[in-house]
Parts: sequence; structure tokens; C-alpha cells
Amino acid sequence: MSKSSVKDILSLDPKGQEVELSAWVRTFRSNRFIALSDGSTINTIQAVVDFENHDEALLRKINTGAAITVKGKLIESQGKGQTAEIQVSDVLINGESDPEKYPLQPKKHSMEFLREKAHLRFRTNTFGAIFRVRHALSFAIHNYFNEKGFFNIHSPIITGSDAEGAGEMFRVTTLDLNNVPKTEDGKVDFSEDFFESETNLTVSGQLEAELAALALRKVYTFGPTFRAENSNTSRHLAEFWMIEPEVAFANLTDNMDLVEDFLQYLVDYALKNCKDDLEFLAQREAEEEKSLPQNERRPMGLIERLEFVQSNKFQRITYTEAIDILRNSKPYKKKKFKFPVEWGTDLQSEHERFLVEKHFEKPVIITDYPASFKAFYMRLNDDNKTVAAMDVLFPGVGEITGGSQREERLDVLLRRCKEMGIEEEHVWWYIETRKFGTCEHAGFGLGFERLVMFVTGMTNIRDVIPFPRTPGHCEF
Ligand code: 4AD
Ligand code: MG
Repeated sequence: MSKSSVKDILSLDPKGQEVELSAWVRTFRSNRFIALSDGSTINTIQAVVDFENHDEALLRKINTGAAITVKGKLIESQGKGQTAEIQVSDVLINGESDPEKYPLQPKKHSMEFLREKAHLRFRTNTFGAIFRVRHALSFAIHNYFNEKGFFNIHSPIITGSDAEGAGEMFRVTTLDLNNVPKTEDGKVDFSEDFFESETNLTVSGQLEAELAALALRKVYTFGPTFRAENSNTSRHLAEFWMIEPEVAFANLTDNMDLVEDFLQYLVDYALKNCKDDLEFLAQREAEEEKSLPQNERRPMGLIERLEFVQSNKFQRITYTEAIDILRNSKPYKKKKFKFPVEWGTDLQSEHERFLVEKHFEKPVIITDYPASFKAFYMRLNDDNKTVAAMDVLFPGVGEITGGSQREERLDVLLRRCKEMGIEEEHVWWYIETRKFGTCEHAGFGLGFERLVMFVTGMTNIRDVIPFPRTPGHCEF
């Protein structure tokens, strides 16, 4: 007798052995066939009850969503598409589910509807598959870095610094908001606050990762980051997870080599370890696309896209080259772009999409952006105009990672801080590393949800994180 998961039972050779399974009812057909699921795999197992042997009142409680335990013999399945089924001798109802009231009916629900039911959506096939893939990718990330000799650094969640200098932080305070203490000159008196200074939720663990890399050589962070940017898009969250490797004695080329190897490893890992879930998601996507006009359908299926990225080199171009390509493009000439394409302005997602999806048709790494709109810590190039930055753009997702070689020269860093209005006393600890044993170093940040979007083919970032936080949405 074994009490195991659906996945365990499906891996057994069915020889009439006794099994016990606790799981949730997906469907119950003809008072005879129960499809049971427990999230251990995309697959359900069929349990067959002989209604003559069971009390009718009990059978009436076997409804979609109910938790039940069945005992019986595992035999070869008569039905097609499945290898084994349980010939039930005993049924126990763990938790009933009123079919009139259960919000998830055994039919297809829209993603919008399921977002409103975040407490139950784990129970659908689609979200089961997404969160199993999300887990696998998280595991693969730690695996990759461990194999390569990186150390995982837990950077703080509450911090006094604004790593990106973009001022998009959530405040952390214990002050009474109805009675905020003020200093004589009318400013908030943080000396009465918990930390006795102004604090925020972190927007990035990079600065701390740099401190660690300048001693442990190869490190990475993997944690939640928070941004109060009011962008209600399908690619932005207020709380998202970021992976930030940082490597000492490494330059921009090393950084590009690392990001490409890392992303290809992760895609390869998912292809090898999430086969059933990816096949399910691929089929789901193909179904969805049938209702789209031809020109809005993706050029490749999900599995094909993953295999393509896993086995093709990424295109590497500079920002200046990207601007040239865009200005010579058809949409530019036909005035189809909404935003201007001019050297010195940031690329918008319409430009990035053109480069990745239309021009190169593969992942693109864009380097050497103008210093004017990039962060203070990026290394200034010899032209004094651009910095050693790199963004990786993926089809369907846009920017998946952002990174750079860091400014390791004390004088240049101090100048950049001044130009960008960053007060030295706020980052004195960061600046100090440039005084003692400074060296070339580089790193990047991977937006975990953007990776999960790419691997699962989901088009809205709210569907790849269990509890999405977006402007106006944070109930539980
Ligand atoms: O490009 P970003 O802002 O870079 C940094 O934070 C650097 N400190 C990283 C580093 O060099 N260590 O963010 C990195 C990535 C983006 O490329 C994107 O994938 C993701 O984080 N990202 C978001 N994902 C979801 N919602 C948001 N609001 C995001 N903002 C950035
Ligand atoms: Mg960025």
C-alpha cells in the first residue's frame, strides 16, 4: 500500500497493486469516472468507481473541486491516452465543494476572470503548469550559479539607498502617518522613525552584490524587488523577483558571454525538465492563436521558440547601430513609430520589438547606451558619451535583462554621482570600495517574471507570479 501523489502513481507499473491517493476532483462522469489531480503533474489519474458498491449520498459529494481519498487497485487503463487507472474500493470525502457555488467550473475561464480568483487559480491546469515551470527555473538558476562557483548573497529588502537613482521606491516607516513628526524647518523628522533615517524597499540588490563581488569574486542575488513606477503594462509589476550576478575581474564582453550562456542554460533546463507542462502550454497557446488574425500570430510555436533561443547565438549590436537600423527601417520611413528615434533618447518597446521580432528575429544584446539616461554606476566609455551598458531583448518579452560593466575608477564615479545629483554621503560605502583594491567588474539583473513569461509563452506578467502587485491591486 502506498499513499502517494498522482505523479508517483503514474510512474508505477500497474499490476493490480493496492494504492491510496488523496487529491482533488477535476470531473466526475457517468457516476463512474473520477479525474483526480493534485498538482504534482499536469496529468490527472482516472479513478473508476462501481456505483452499485457505494452509497448514493456519498457519490453525490464527488464534485469538481472536492478533496477526496480513494483506495483501490492500480490496473492498466482501458481508456485511451492514459496508462493506468485506480479501480476504487473505498472513497473518503475530505472536503466537499458545492457545485453550485464553486467558482471554477470544468470549462475554460478567461485569464482576467482567473486573476480575480487568485486564491483558486492554482487549481487550473494552466496555472499549475506555470507555477511548476516557475519553480523549475528558480531551481535551475541556483543550480547554474552553484555549478559555476558563484555564491548566493542575500541582499537586504529594507534599505536606505536608491540603487537605480530613479526615485521609484516604496517608503518603509513606523511613523504615525496621521501625525508625522516634523523638524524645525518643516521636514519629516526621521530621527523618530524605527531606523532613525529614511528607508525604502529595495529596487535592486546590485550595489550590495558589488560589495560582495569585490571580495568573493563571483556572487548573485535572487530576491524580491519593489518599484513604485506607475506603469500599468503587461510587463511591469510593483513587486517582482530579480536575479543579479556580479563578477569581479570581468568586463562587458565577459558579461555578455555570461548572460547568453545563463539564459540558454535556463531554457535548456526547462525543455528537458518541464516537458509535459511545456507541451500543455504550447497546445494552449496554439489554441488561443487560432482566434487571432494571421499577422498577430507568433511566427513559431512555444517549443520551437525555446529550442531556437537555446541553440542560436544572440545578436550583439551597439545602441548607435540600433539607432541606424531603426532610422533606415520601413516603419520609421512610413512614420509608423509613435516615439522618435534619435541618438540620445531611450529605445521604446516598439523599437525593441522591431529589432528583435522583425529585423534580427532572434535575441539581441544592445550595448553602449548614452550615459545621459543610464544609471550612475555604469562605466563611462572612452568617447565620454556612452556607458558600457547592455540590455538583452527577447522576442515577445522585450527587455529581459539589464546590466553593465561598473565604474571602478574613483574620480570618474565621483564625477558621475555629482552630475546625476547623487549625494556622496548616501553612497559613501559604495565609493569606498573604489579606494581600496578597486578592479574591473560587471553584472546584470534578470527579471524573473520576464523569463517565466518567455518560457511559458504567457503574454501578461500578472499570470506568471502567484500574487501580482500592480497599481491599485494588493488585496491579499
Ligand atoms: O534594468 P533594470 O532596472 O536593472 C537593474 O535593476 C540593475 N540594478 C541590474 C543589474 O545590473 N544588477 O532591471 C533589471 C531587469 C529588467 O531587465 C527587467 O527584466 C526587470 O528587471 N524589471 C522588471 N520586471 C517586472 N516589473 C518591473 N517593474 C521591472 N523593472 C525591471
Ligand atoms: Mg533596464
